[in-house]
Amino acid sequence: MNRLNILTFPDPRLRKKAIPITAFDKDLEKKADDMLFTMYEDKGIGLAATQVDIHERLIVIDLSEDRSEPLIIINPSYTVLDDTLEVSKEGCLSIPTFQQEVPRAKEIELTYQDLNGREQKLIADGLLGYCIQHEIDHLNGKLLVDYASSLKRSRIKEKLMKSKDVKNKN
Ligand code: NI
Repeated sequence: MNRLNILTFPDPRLRKKAIPITAFDKDLEKKADDMLFTMYEDKGIGLAATQVDIHERLIVIDLSEDRSEPLIIINPSYTVLDDTLEVSKEGCLSIPTFQQEVPRAKEIELTYQDLNGREQKLIADGLLGYCIQHEIDHLNGKLLVDYASSLKRSRIKEKLMKSKDVKNKN
């Protein structure tokens, strides 16, 4: 398994819209494995393919304490079952040190395909529901900073660009 490079804001590639997956082959399996490995190494709970510069509709999630319940979600879409908006603080591996309160639908029904291309359904609320909504945002080129004020957005942009400069000089 390979650890993939995670793109960080404001990299323009994070804004690309991912395309549907049509081939359910070994190559797709490898992408999902590498993404899971990368997510575990970086101690994240979810990762969208967009974040590792793969612009296909693929997401991995694992909310378990011991990192033993990987969920591989392909071509996701959801309908809202309970549209009460709940606000919680979210972070993102592509925006280090940044946190943002985001309103998310309380309960959703997710439809997706697994690695074999079989259609699956999942009803999700709480953290899992928010996480799915966050990762689908990524596939559509949307980021946590889009929920922030423009002032907060430019501050984090400046901060991350500065730390990138430092890294490049070293
Ligand atoms: Ni994220």
